[in-house]
Amino acid sequence: MDRTDGVVPKQQRWFADRYAENARFVSDLAEPLIDILNPKAGELILDLGCGDGALTKLASNTGAITIGADASLDQVAATRNLGIPGAVVDGHNLAFKEVFDAILTNAALHWMTRPDEVIQGMWNALKPGGRLVGEMGGMGNIAKITHALTEALARRRLDDQIQFPWYFPDENDYRKRLENQGFDVNYIELIPRPTPLPGEFTAWLDTFGEHFVFLVPDSERDDFKEEVAEALRQDLYEPHDKWVADYVRLRFSATRPAKP
Ligand code: BEZ
Repeated sequence: MDRTDGVVPKQQRWFADRYAENARFVSDLAEPLIDILNPKAGELILDLGCGDGALTKLASNTGAITIGADASLDQVAATRNLGIPGAVVDGHNLAFKEVFDAILTNAALHWMTRPDEVIQGMWNALKPGGRLVGEMGGMGNIAKITHALTEALARRRLDDQIQFPWYFPDENDYRKRLENQGFDVNYIELIPRPTPLPGEFTAWLDTFGEHFVFLVPDSERDDFKEEVAEALRQDLYEPHDKWVADYVRLRFSATRPAKP
């Protein structure tokens, strides 16, 4: 479906219906985070980068009060449709002050390319003693996919226009940033997690790869997406699971120390 209305967007756009169809696995596979978070009845919990609110709602099942925050109005509307309060917020500019018992964040922080601003905002948003539990793309995440995208753009002499939209840190990098802010890091681990996709690889590109796809003229986009998929078929297509993306997660748990 063409949703550009003739305007070429420079940013990834988020549509809750497209996300539900092509990205349900994002919240499904993040359920272990809820175990680590261990939300308790009455706690106030922020889900930063809540997407369509599926994980936010799951985190409220124990009686915690969860609030979703996302940069996308469409995703926040989907979150509200689940009965969860939601706010349109840029994670680089969190303005909460010591209100949350915990922050949950899944598959969102890698879209925020100024991590220290985000970490400072999360620190400020947590009460002393508050917990931060998260998962994001880590070093090596979708390396084969980004290589294939870059090569396909290079064949069109468009690779010099790529503005890499993601931040995929390793454990040392992110631990250091959290500790520099004052967090106690309880756990941080890079976890390779090959991830079966629910549909065609081109649908993944539509859902997550617009930064790259929109560098190509409109009339060539379908060919471009097919070309990238074909370049990846040998590495990422398996007869049983079909398309399996080369995801690597950085999972962590940290605490803002209680005041002495
Ligand atoms: C992810 O790691 O969840 C991801 C990264 C970039 C694009 C899409 C998904």
